[in-house]
Amino acid sequence: MLYEALSMSTIVVKVVNKTTEAEDIVSLELASIDDDPLPPFSAGSHIDVHVPGGLIRQYSLCNNPAERHRYQIAVLRDPQSRGGSTGMHQIQVGDVVQISEPRNLFPLTPADHYLLLAGGIGVTPILCMAERLATVGASFSMHYCSRSPERAAFLDRIGASQFSARSHVYFDNATARERLDLGKIIDAAPPGTHIYVCGPSGFIGFVTETARARGWPADRVHLEYFGNAPQDTDGDTAFEVKLASSGKSYTIAADRSVWSTLLEHGIDIPVSCEQGICGTCITRVLQGTPDHRDVYLTDDEKAKNDQFAPCCSRAWTALLVLDL
Ligand code: FES
Repeated sequence: MLYEALSMSTIVVKVVNKTTEAEDIVSLELASIDDDPLPPFSAGSHIDVHVPGGLIRQYSLCNNPAERHRYQIAVLRDPQSRGGSTGMHQIQVGDVVQISEPRNLFPLTPADHYLLLAGGIGVTPILCMAERLATVGASFSMHYCSRSPERAAFLDRIGASQFSARSHVYFDNATARERLDLGKIIDAAPPGTHIYVCGPSGFIGFVTETARARGWPADRVHLEYFGNAPQDTDGDTAFEVKLASSGKSYTIAADRSVWSTLLEHGIDIPVSCEQGICGTCITRVLQGTPDHRDVYLTDDEKAKNDQFAPCCSRAWTALLVLDL
């Protein structure tokens, strides 16, 4: 997910609806101030939302992409929230918020069949995809995993949708027989199937590993993360970064990020998610070996060691020279 949050044009919208969709999940419906049509979007798109308090967070659009009168997003209250989801939950109907135009870094590509897999709040772009695929008459099935019925958003909507017969919902607290048997589903997928998966990193890892173990080609697995896995920071040590343009060096303390340290010295790298998901902060590395901690770069990109995410990644070497 590459988010160019700070360079994108922003639009101001009003909140016209707020609904509790499940435990700790609310949906917000956004419309233009003057009721003009909103910029169009395609399935898999997200918007950046300027959260009250100054943060910027990304949310996938989950309404039917044919709609121009509204954007719908859903927000899970994160107990570890640094202000993002808590601020979003405080938004009320009638509030005015600033958002980016929709961007799509998780687009549907042509396929003979689509296997849509959602973990938790990752259902949002997957639901949008299901709406689109149903509208165009494409072949697909949707599989949605949640901890429990109380924590699963949009169950009524899915049940009442034109794709309800192709939708399957699984709960962690169900019996083993009723849980997702992903291996079986993948084995039964027709040739030419593409997998689209969205959810927390653990769910995505489970899907990509299961697919890989069954010989599924990596280019037929499309994914989008919601949240990076917690990092083990116990062994973190200080290192130096040097800016190629000025030749100046800065010490990155063991408990600080490259981004926050540079910001303190007036070097402002655009960030958005601040946790290695979105790619906004990706910076070229001219010398040294990054310790990649993001989930944005692919394994191949990480192996090249010529770019890194300064919001979360660190260094294996004592010095990183950055193309800044
Ligand atoms: S700000 Fe999102 S990856 Fe760094």
